[in-house]
Amino acid sequence: MVLPSDPAPIIQTRPMAVEDLDLVEAIEREGQDAPWSRRIFRDCLDVGYDCRMILREREPVGFVIVSRVLDEAHLLNIVLDGSWRGQGIARGVLIGLQQELIELGMSLLYLEVRESNTPARRLYERLGFGTSGFRERYYRTRDGGREDAVLMSKQLMADHK
Ligand SMILES: CC(C)(COP(=O)(O)OP(=O)(O)OC[C@H]1O[C@@H](n2cnc3c(N)ncnc32)[C@H](O)[C@@H]1OP(=O)(O)O)[C@@H](O)C(=O)NCCC(=O)NCCS
Repeated sequence: MVLPSDPAPIIQTRPMAVEDLDLVEAIEREGQDAPWSRRIFRDCLDVGYDCRMILREREPVGFVIVSRVLDEAHLLNIVLDGSWRGQGIARGVLIGLQQELIELGMSLLYLEVRESNTPARRLYERLGFGTSGFRERYYRTRDGGREDAVLMSKQLMADHK
């Protein structure tokens, strides 16, 4: 993927490969409270989910995983390496991704996010996602407890944010 409005894009994506999984796991472990195992990432590749590395100047700085069923897309995971956060990279990737999903005929993009994950919730809100529900005690926390998930979704229209 190349971001549509950028003539010389520094942020791109490419398909994730099995060879990327060491890096993906490292980024995931650093970025998530209850990181996915290598097996989960392997399964995502094997079932054909849209798994991509996020590249900055051709170097991987994160990843994004989306599944599509009928006309609905589920953002399953997105993580940026810690040193590359807060620079608009996830925002740019998600704007480009939404455009691709529209072109594929998708009408809804949805996701779950930890209630305490302010950066991610803010990112999605700024992109026009609304809260559509909650899943109680959906996530494990680092201290062995549980935390609610916020369900967020966005109707995809040609004139996206
Ligand atoms: C969530 C995450 C993917 C965002 O990636 P990012 O590239 O840093 O985000 P961006 O720089 O594109 O930020 C876009 C918007 O998100 C919000 N945001 C990003 N970081 C934020 C922070 N630390 N605090 C508050 N809002 C934040 C802001 O609204 C920002 O837009 P603005 O700067 O114009 O206000 C990244 O923080 C990350 O990898 N976190 C750990 C893993 C994770 O939580 N993934 C999401 C799982 S649902």
